[in-house]
Amino acid sequence: MFIVGLSGLTGPKTAVRGNWIAAAGMGIAVLATLISVRDTATVNWILIAAGLAVGVLLGVPPAKKTKMTAMPQLVALFNGVGGGTVALIAWAEFIETDGFARFTAEQHPTVALVVGSLFAAIIGSVSFWGSLVAFLKLQESIPRKVEASLVKSAKLFQVCNVVLLLGAVAAAVCIGLNAGRGSPGWTIALVLVLAGIMGLFVVLPIGGADMPVVISLLNALTGLSAAAAGLALDNSVMIVAGMIVGASGSILTNLMAKAMNRSIPAIVFGSFGGDGGADGGAVTTTEQGAVKATSAADAAIQMAYANQVIVVPGYGLAVAQAQHAVKEMSNLLEARGVEVKYAIHPVAGRMPGHMNVLLAEADVDYDAMREMDDVNGEFNRTDVTIVIGANDVTNPAARSDPSSPIHGMPILNVDQSRSVIVLKRSMSSGYAGIENPLFFLNQTSMLFGDAKKSVSEVIEELKVL
Ligand code: TAP
Repeated sequence: MFIVGLSGLTGPKTAVRGNWIAAAGMGIAVLATLISVRDTATVNWILIAAGLAVGVLLGVPPAKKTKMTAMPQLVALFNGVGGGTVALIAWAEFIETDGFARFTAEQHPTVALVVGSLFAAIIGSVSFWGSLVAFLKLQESIPRKVEASLVKSAKLFQVCNVVLLLGAVAAAVCIGLNAGRGSPGWTIALVLVLAGIMGLFVVLPIGGADMPVVISLLNALTGLSAAAAGLALDNSVMIVAGMIVGASGSILTNLMAKAMNRSIPAIVFGSFGGDGGADGGAVTTTEQGAVKATSAADAAIQMAYANQVIVVPGYGLAVAQAQHAVKEMSNLLEARGVEVKYAIHPVAGRMPGHMNVLLAEADVDYDAMREMDDVNGEFNRTDVTIVIGANDVTNPAARSDPSSPIHGMPILNVDQSRSVIVLKRSMSSGYAGIENPLFFLNQTSMLFGDAKKSVSEVIEELKVL
């Protein structure tokens, strides 16, 4: 059911059903676990029922109430809880066996129990504390100035992390070598604390805009630690579910890194995407000459008499919350017989599916949202492409300039369109902090201003045409 559920998540039309199927699978796993308890006399059912009630109360209301745009924070938090649970399971196993001194017949093979528990303790703790920091960053609870100085101190954090990792692994190895004789309680506490500080220190210096990739990575780690705990407990469901989460999280992390043309170490150990890009960038460059400014009236005329218009949404659309206005503009164009399509770049915005979520909220038809590979061949047959708050994902330097930091990143071929209208507030750069030659092309004109305001002005002009 987990696998069928996961395959449902590959498309918006089947995602809700997929989610229900996976949730039902988890419900069955919980029930089966409770039913299979053999030693019912020693089980504290009241405590278990209370735990289930607390979990439902803490899980359901936020999942229902949280806005779509705040989903990454919620995912970070839920992922952290998973990692924390795994670390607690490892701790419980340590206590139950008196520091791996006693093993019951059910707990064989002991190597799997000891190694699995210690691995789960380290990775689970890293994932719990790292996810909490990711949550705070996405919630913008860490002041910008503090975040900027943390990003600047990345090297110091990295040195500390090497020491912390060595310390946690050394303590775990000592516990492992003492299995059979038993280790004192403080040793496992030391492993959990060192790994926990490492989780904090790994995520603290990473820029807020890189958090989606970090969360996906932490998610993969949580899955792996759950699988390790499953090995320790000899629980096949935990092994299967943990490996599914570990594998899918790793694939998603890799896909995101590829679409951004960055390596995972470059994200974790910092390069661009720190503080500068998090708020849309502050670099203003006009080295390539003058740009042409246009007005809402001219933009409306150009689009109204086009056969096909492609809308390219980006991070600025989310900042301006312009999705409803964009949908209204498309309706007006379609009423005039213009074909309107949306070109979705896999890493437009700041989280996977960011643009799809925003446009779906404004009731844009799923079929009108075209993925990059699908739409790229269409730009050269398109009369007008309107770029709304997108920058890096349209930058032709990624194709043509080997010295560009984003060289090799797949982009939307907006520059091949007959004319291009770019909506943004200034000449500031995007997330990558670099200039975009698209803005200086002959066929490009800039409509400066907040995207929602500009689109609303275009709407007014379209209404009177
Ligand atoms: P960006 O390249 O970041 O550009 C966004 C542009 O929006 C900025 O140039 C900004 O220019 C404009 N903007 C901001 N607020 C605006 C507003 N209120 N109204 C109008 N325009 C506004 O965005 P993109 O093209 O979507 O590319 C995404 C970038 O984020 C890529 O580099 C990608 O690698 C990276 N990234 C993506 C993800 C995921 S998973 N999606 C995760 C981490 C990083 P002004 O300031 O001049 O308005």
